[in-house]
Amino acid sequence: MSIKIIGTGSTLPEKCVTNNDLTKLVETSDEWIRERTGIGSRHVSTGETVTDLAVSACEKALADAGKSADQVDLLLVATCSPECGIPSVACQVQSRLVASNAVAFDLNAACAGFLFALNTAWAYIEAGVYRSALIVGAEVLSKLVDWTDRGTCILFGDGAGAVYVEKCEQGGILGFVQHSDGSRGEVLKCDSRALKNPYADVPAQAPYVQMDGREVFAFAVRQVPAGIQEVLEQTGMAPEDIDMFVLHQANYRIIEGIAKRLKQDIAKFPVNLNKVGNMSSAAIPVLLDELNRAGRLQKGMKLVLSGFGAGLTWGACVLTW
Ligand code: COA
Repeated sequence: MSIKIIGTGSTLPEKCVTNNDLTKLVETSDEWIRERTGIGSRHVSTGETVTDLAVSACEKALADAGKSADQVDLLLVATCSPECGIPSVACQVQSRLVASNAVAFDLNAACAGFLFALNTAWAYIEAGVYRSALIVGAEVLSKLVDWTDRGTCILFGDGAGAVYVEKCEQGGILGFVQHSDGSRGEVLKCDSRALKNPYADVPAQAPYVQMDGREVFAFAVRQVPAGIQEVLEQTGMAPEDIDMFVLHQANYRIIEGIAKRLKQDIAKFPVNLNKVGNMSSAAIPVLLDELNRAGRLQKGMKLVLSGFGAGLTWGACVLTW
């Protein structure tokens, strides 16, 4: 028994910001950004919230699956950029979808969030607790980014992607691995509100993304292929058995590095980061939805999904489409 993705959906904010647009904000160039990252543009919220984007992506995933909201048992939202601490984005999405039978909660594993949420749903369904789940990755990172820091503001974008999954007897997710290394959290962080109460007043840190880009790059190129090899060994497969590697979209050079380490043709690694940048937990489900709607995912294909990011966190799963 396992779980199978039955439907996908995604939504991006309307406003598209090109690299040339960014040259008006910071000292950079289209050439530098494309060369170092592969990114050409990204979508940025002008008012759309994480919940708005998530609701829209969920509606499309449910329509694609031919399901109604009341058929959802579990509603998981992976996000690191919610508008409010409470209620969770998942509970707000549940209310707007009228997914009255679902239990809903958020999960934060940064850019590995969607994958961790998918694995969480797998575990619940495998254990017989639930039969179906809506799994969402949704971010409005533009509010966490320092738009005067050219080292980070060029990288990120906003958006949401969702998948509807159900229990299945054959195929579906064949295996997964997930890892965390909290001892290396400093290389990619974003502070929240400072402690301020009648008994303490801790000086506030700027609540923006801070990153050691080189360290993150080295981590991704080393750990992601190792995680993929691990999950392939678990399922008795080799990289050659995989039709498509749907990776977190952070940087094209990272994807090239991973393809090289796995000794696989770069053509097996679909990319959309040129148009959407790094959307953290939304990256994998948005790319999956694009591939699905373009008819590039054929029944029976073997896919690896792999995400990595702040925490540090990383993971991979193998599935039959
Ligand atoms: N435009 C122009 N120049 C820039 C720039 C920009 N947007 N950002 C940085 N630079 C400059 C730096 O100031 C530095 O100049 P200096 O040599 O005069 O000091 C130079 O370019 C090189 O900077 P460096 O940070 O060493 O570049 P890099 O090759 O490591 O590329 C990243 C920077 C961020 C693109 C790259 O490290 C990266 O992609 N890392 C992974 C980040 C990531 O994916 N994070 C999310 C993970 S989920």
